[in-house]
Amino acid sequence: MKTHELRQKYIDFFISKGHVRIQGKSLIPDNDPTVLFTTAGMHPLVNYLLGEEHPAGKRLVDFQKCIRTGDIDAVGDFSHLTFFEMLGNWSLGDYFKEGAIKMSYEFLTSPQWLGIPHEKLGVTVFAGEDGIPKDDESADIWRSLGFTGDRISFRPREDNWWGPAGVTGPCGPDSEMFIDMGKEACGPDCSPGCSCGKWLEIWNDVFMQYNKDKDGNYLPLKRKCVDTGMGLERTVTILSGKKSVYETDIFVPIIAAIERAAGKEGSPYVYGTDSEKDRSTRIIADHSRAATFILGDPKAVTPSNVGAGYVLRRLIRRAVRHGRKLGIEEGLLAPLADVIIKEFSGPYPELEQNRGLVISELENEELKFRETLQKGEKEFEKLLPNLLKDPKKVMSGRLAFKLYDTYGFPIELSEELALENGLTVDKEEFDAAFVRHQEKSRAGSDQIFKGGLADHSEITTKYHTATHLLQKALSMVLGPHIAQKGSNITAERMRFDFSHPAPMTKEEISSVQAIVNEQIKRDLPVIMEIMELEDAKSQGATALFGEKYEKRVKVYTIGDFSKEVCGGPHVEHTGTLGQFTIQKEQSSSSGVRRIRAVLG
Ligand code: ALA
Repeated sequence: MKTHELRQKYIDFFISKGHVRIQGKSLIPDNDPTVLFTTAGMHPLVNYLLGEEHPAGKRLVDFQKCIRTGDIDAVGDFSHLTFFEMLGNWSLGDYFKEGAIKMSYEFLTSPQWLGIPHEKLGVTVFAGEDGIPKDDESADIWRSLGFTGDRISFRPREDNWWGPAGVTGPCGPDSEMFIDMGKEACGPDCSPGCSCGKWLEIWNDVFMQYNKDKDGNYLPLKRKCVDTGMGLERTVTILSGKKSVYETDIFVPIIAAIERAAGKEGSPYVYGTDSEKDRSTRIIADHSRAATFILGDPKAVTPSNVGAGYVLRRLIRRAVRHGRKLGIEEGLLAPLADVIIKEFSGPYPELEQNRGLVISELENEELKFRETLQKGEKEFEKLLPNLLKDPKKVMSGRLAFKLYDTYGFPIELSEELALENGLTVDKEEFDAAFVRHQEKSRAGSDQIFKGGLADHSEITTKYHTATHLLQKALSMVLGPHIAQKGSNITAERMRFDFSHPAPMTKEEISSVQAIVNEQIKRDLPVIMEIMELEDAKSQGATALFGEKYEKRVKVYTIGDFSKEVCGGPHVEHTGTLGQFTIQKEQSSSSGVRRIRAVLG
């Protein structure tokens, strides 16, 4: 089974079951301060799962590019990936457990589709917990399909519940499907869901029944929904009988390109012949793919020291470092991006459209990091005479951490250089300093990495409407070239990024602020209509440049002032927004300005 083939089959199957194919969205979520990247197929659909009407109807199917960074350090083994694709189908108040399970079963087993023998499948169902009952309904449906005894395993919330981690949002019990890999059971309790390697998960049907509020209550959703997710790469691995994700068709040309780069000088390196080098190769393959997709996104972020830009920087640097382990001292990432763009621009045409940015950012960041490495090596040489005086011949962990913290000089390189000079590094002391540092930064970023979902409280909805007013006011004051480059809303403030070549003057800032406040005072009605994208454009609605839209879209009109294609939600009248104040106007990146504003 090939990757492109499974992606297409999934879409075709659900279209044959009355679903409408919608476009996967950007990797960078809109208006969601709780995550850095889109982490699941349902992520861009949260509003609809919470009850908003979707312009494409009640049955939807798509494939979505996702990034999960929680396991970034585990990448390098056979199965972990940071970037992956998720196939998903949704029911927004249409079919529920029976429809979802029966369609999943048909797709998996029908010879016309995946043709997996019934005997190879097992399922898990929610066992009940915290006052939420056991999911007997799903179990009965699986039984009616011939799953008996130990082929159905009841599991707790930890395994069979899907929803936001720690924040508000739609959630519910799920039922997962597994393939029996034919290994011996690890013990009498080994059943679907066991992590011994006998059972591998390929699909998850989530039954969204609740909205978790900010006080931790589970409120029944007005409209029950189904959200499903099938990890594309992992399913192809299993269906094609491969041992590793990295052996599947999509990784073959990427790994071949890494081998070519590594084999340029000295003896050629062949993947599969050296476990340390294989590990580095897998890290480079995964990280270069993730970096190419982040930079090739319509809402690309560029490498920086914060947020998504920092994750991108880490991916690039880690790839370069592992490239050095394979003897690749220059020009690693841009040629790999070429291979990746060629392979994926069919389903993801944005990669080809953004090729220029992808290549130039990868080249720049790689070059800068190589310079950093050189600087670190120089610093080390300066320290060396003193280090050699130490009778124990130990470089302190504190010093190694300083090189890491100040110059970004990786500990492995300090260790390597130390070794070359007959020294060792106090790794324990380094680790302690590193953990202290991580704890400090983690306090702020934990929530973000967990992959929670957006907050749709009243105040964030107000900020959402304020972004529309701000965008229009900016184009009136600065000119029609203004285009939104991103926005980020929390309950405390909004941030709005837009293209503009120069800092705004004080006068421009106060005119924009005055225009927004005037529209609030006018208490304009906010009206939503669903229409064809073409009609929205011909009526002059603003749309986010480069974003993919469905054929039919929602358009929000604010009185006679603004018209934008947008998923919502919004307030009903601008009068409820209160006073709008711009607190800061600054540079965000080259040619992009950032405004921070509050409502009060
Ligand atoms: N949202 C569910 C998942 O990501 C389907 O597993």
